[in-house]
Amino acid sequence: MASNEVATLDPTKIPRHVAIIMDGNGRWAQQRGLPRLAGHRAGTENIRRLLENCVEFGIQYVTLYAFSTENWGRPPEEVRGLMGILENVIERELDELDSKGVQLRHLGRLEGLAPALQSKIKEAIQRTAGNSRLVVCVALNYGGRAEIVDAIRRIIREGVPPEQIDEALVGQHMYAPDIPDPDLIIRTAGESRLSNFLLWEAAYAEYYVTPTYWPDFDGSELRRALLAYGQRHRRFGQLK
Ligand code: IPE
Ligand code: IPE
Ligand code: MG
Repeated sequence: MASNEVATLDPTKIPRHVAIIMDGNGRWAQQRGLPRLAGHRAGTENIRRLLENCVEFGIQYVTLYAFSTENWGRPPEEVRGLMGILENVIERELDELDSKGVQLRHLGRLEGLAPALQSKIKEAIQRTAGNSRLVVCVALNYGGRAEIVDAIRRIIREGVPPEQIDEALVGQHMYAPDIPDPDLIIRTAGESRLSNFLLWEAAYAEYYVTPTYWPDFDGSELRRALLAYGQRHRRFGQLK
């Protein structure tokens, strides 16, 4: 057992909200000589296990980056395949997630998605609205810049005078204003970038990158991320 696996997690230092950039599905598949879609399938399989681990560790909010506004630029077969996989995963997992007390939320532009997928997402949100064990936000057709643009449009439509616009008001116009900002952002597959994820909300998040590809990111990997988080000193620009 690696030394950090025997180290104990301090329950007072568990992040309330963990956001994950689930990257590396394509490379995971490539490494095995499989088509990229097999990687996306394996990636969605991993979500169930990850959510169970989150509950065990006492995390209250999880945000999963599933499809970015830039991912539309991928080859049409991959986009189509991915959308199908995401639709299936909601259909397949909804009962179980609901029975386990998971509340599902969506971050992103719903109107850009296929009507069938839109109705599955709406159904999932409605059915799980009363659950509170774990809140899971799925960022699907999500872009951090698009979210800020959407907030600006709504603020202008509401006719808010410029001098009344402050950080709190902008925050209230984001996709999920009732959810606390992420404390920890995990990115799998080694890249050190945000790729347009939670630009507004991530202002003071701690950032953790692992080379592990998303389909292989398991409970012990999550534990390592939480241990690293527990050793950070969050100063928020101040001295203590
Ligand atoms: C992440 O895996 C899933 C999505 C972006 C939809 P990738 O498909 O980006 O996998 P890599 O980065 O090509 O390995
Ligand atoms: C970020 O991964 C988006 C998701 C995980 C959904 P990408 O694979 O799209 O990011 P880049 O292209 O490496 O920046
Ligand atoms: Mg990628």
